Amino acid sequence: MYIVHIASECAPVIKAGGLGDVVYGLSRELEIRGNCVELILPMYDCMRYDHIWGLHDAYRDLMVPWYDATINCSVYCGWVHGRLCFFIKPNSWDQFFDRGCYYGCSDDDLRFAFFCKAALEFLLKSNKRPDILHCHDWQTGLVPVLLYEIYKHHGMWNQRVVYTIHNFKHQGVTGNETLIATGLKQFSYYYNYARLRDNFNPFAINMMKGGIVYSNYITTVSPHHAWEARHMDVSYGLGHTLHLHQSKFGGILNGIDYGVWNPEDDRYIPHPFGIDSFAEKAKNKKALRERLLLQDNDKPIVCFIGRLDEQKGVDLVHHAIYYSLSRGAQFVLLGAATEKRIDDHFRHEKNFLNDNPDCHLELGFNEELAHLIYAGADIIVVPSNFEPCGLTQMIGLRYGTVPVVRGVGGLVNTVFDWDYDQNLPPEKRNGFVFYQMGYDALESALGRAINLYTQTPQVFKQLALQGMEYDYSWNHPGEQYVELYDLIRHK
Ligand code: ADP
Ligand code: GLC
Repeated sequence: MYIVHIASECAPVIKAGGLGDVVYGLSRELEIRGNCVELILPMYDCMRYDHIWGLHDAYRDLMVPWYDATINCSVYCGWVHGRLCFFIKPNSWDQFFDRGCYYGCSDDDLRFAFFCKAALEFLLKSNKRPDILHCHDWQTGLVPVLLYEIYKHHGMWNQRVVYTIHNFKHQGVTGNETLIATGLKQFSYYYNYARLRDNFNPFAINMMKGGIVYSNYITTVSPHHAWEARHMDVSYGLGHTLHLHQSKFGGILNGIDYGVWNPEDDRYIPHPFGIDSFAEKAKNKKALRERLLLQDNDKPIVCFIGRLDEQKGVDLVHHAIYYSLSRGAQFVLLGAATEKRIDDHFRHEKNFLNDNPDCHLELGFNEELAHLIYAGADIIVVPSNFEPCGLTQMIGLRYGTVPVVRGVGGLVNTVFDWDYDQNLPPEKRNGFVFYQMGYDALESALGRAINLYTQTPQVFKQLALQGMEYDYSWNHPGEQYVELYDLIRHK
């Protein structure tokens, strides 16, 4: 099969969070399974060019219709760890992706609407006719809309679209401008509840809703989140739309790339280890302590790695730091805040807490340090408010770092409580789960983890090894996506 992923991120070149990991890992798995896979991405000024091999301009003078004129683009091509990627670079309107950041600009809706239009224009003009277009999140929600409403009339009628929603919180709510700019000019037609009209604001259109309505199949990134999205209030107003389209909606659990996340062969950790050489993990703990100037003692290290955002339960993260310290554990945090208010808060905490030899907060994005923390910590907390899938608990499991998670979204599908899981025998359990958003619930689960470590270290080690036995690679999800592509191709 010929599959093209259209996305706003692909690790390690463009990574703001799990989306980048997933686009990279899934496309690699699909290729391993014998498919021809290509990616179309924006060419941001701030992406990691050092991870692209053989970058060259593959298509010049791509004229992309925009308002009543055209924008001249170049399409660059290069390999990202073996994946063939095409990068769209507007020449005359280059401020679209030359902003020093991936997201967070006031015209993000227009920037990514343009990206959708340019991606399709590139496929059309370069005579690429993939079997499957796989689009991700709101940034590419207009691809199936434009494909169906405009590009099918230019001969692109045979392409099937899978649309994966990684996060319902950001939907690309926009207005007339976007419709005019992309050539979707019949306002009354699109401002229809059954099409793009936003479910909350009758004067706005919603790009993610467009992706849902127009694609051949919609997935979200775990089975439990697919259920939550339809039945609980976690899809930010799109629940009814999902109900209407439920025959083409389902959840496929993400994987993690076992080439990138492999404690036996990870260039960022000084002491490789595996199930049979688990004792080496302690050396990484020592290296982590040396790097962060933490005291060397027999305490467990509890960590948090992730975006510091309401989604991740920042209040509980804050509480977990103080609770861990009070229970005789060390704490390491690595996170980049998504709002100034949260950034200010954690900067203040950092100034105060980094004097404590049992605590280190590191603010910002640091891929290399993340690997060392996964390898050196004993416990990872993921107290999310909502979590469509979550990768950090799966990476933690792979590195023998026991997860303590809130039972929501993909965390339910991946972490099974050591004391209370009724569905699995004890030898299959791998972490600790709590459900309520309050401090008590977090304390109860984190307290059980710290107790197990300090009181029965051999049992704790057994639990960590059980977690390492789990297979959360892309193998199984890759198979499910291929089955899905086959299904919609022949419909
Ligand atoms: P998100 O909601 O942010 O996508 P995920 O758990 O799906 O959350 O994925 C987060 C990914 O980003 C993981 O690979 C994690 O290691 C990485 N990550 C998050 N924050 C940081 C950071 N500050 N530095 C380095 N890596 C980070
Ligand atoms: C999103 C979600 C996260 C998921 C990731 C990759 O950003 O917040 O739960 O793991 O995408 O799908």
